[in-house]
Amino acid sequence: MRIPFIAGNWKMFKTKREALEFAEGFRAVYDNKDVKAAICAPFTDLQLLVEVFENTGIGVGAQNVHFEESGAFTGEISAAMLAELGVDYCIVGHSERREYFGETDETVNLKLKRLFQDTSITPILCVGENLSEREAGQAEIIVSGQLEKDLSGLDSGQVGRMVIAYEPIWAIGTGRTATAQQAEEMCAYVRETVERLFGNRCAEEVRIQYGGSVKPENASEIMNMDNIDGALVGGASLIHTKFNEIVNF
Ligand code: PGA
Repeated sequence: MRIPFIAGNWKMFKTKREALEFAEGFRAVYDNKDVKAAICAPFTDLQLLVEVFENTGIGVGAQNVHFEESGAFTGEISAAMLAELGVDYCIVGHSERREYFGETDETVNLKLKRLFQDTSITPILCVGENLSEREAGQAEIIVSGQLEKDLSGLDSGQVGRMVIAYEPIWAIGTGRTATAQQAEEMCAYVRETVERLFGNRCAEEVRIQYGGSVKPENASEIMNMDNIDGALVGGASLIHTKFNEIVNF
């Protein structure tokens, strides 16, 4: 049984004071035993969120991690640093990091391995095609290529414990959501690819989220699809009442 999992991705929003305001508000309204919720926040908000969400069941995630254990990497944050804070999740390979910060399938792969080697943090791996790739009919080949490289060298137990977010780049922050059918087709394809690479049991266990302009108005239609176990929510996760409506899809 895969428990529905709604994660917010705040991106580069919210100072510590703004994060506190959100967290106290969300903690007061979150009351859903059937849906797991988490907030992936800037590094500077993580400790505060871990403290305010303690014993609430609300998870906390980072948005990035470095792939080396430690060393002379100015400005970077290690997996062990996140683990010691009590962080539960870490987004890896978000399309904005791939596009603006030179993240490649190779570094994504190293980051996943580092998280598994040094911590029990659950990775949320992001994959997805851009608009020209979709229009050229290449969405599936792009996504399976990302999965093959990103998950290379991991074992089926590890992949079964992680979360994979299918996020078509053309639907992120654009207001242009994939239709529920498009999202389901691609999430089913992600599951088939995991099955081909890691076997049936792993494919049944891995949680697959859809991300891209998810909001209260479209959350239930998306969440009702067979292969969609959750959502990765950007813009609509910044207001706690809105995020809670999505959690209660
Ligand atoms: P969006 O972002 O919900 O604002 O489209 C989703 C994401 O980038 O994870």
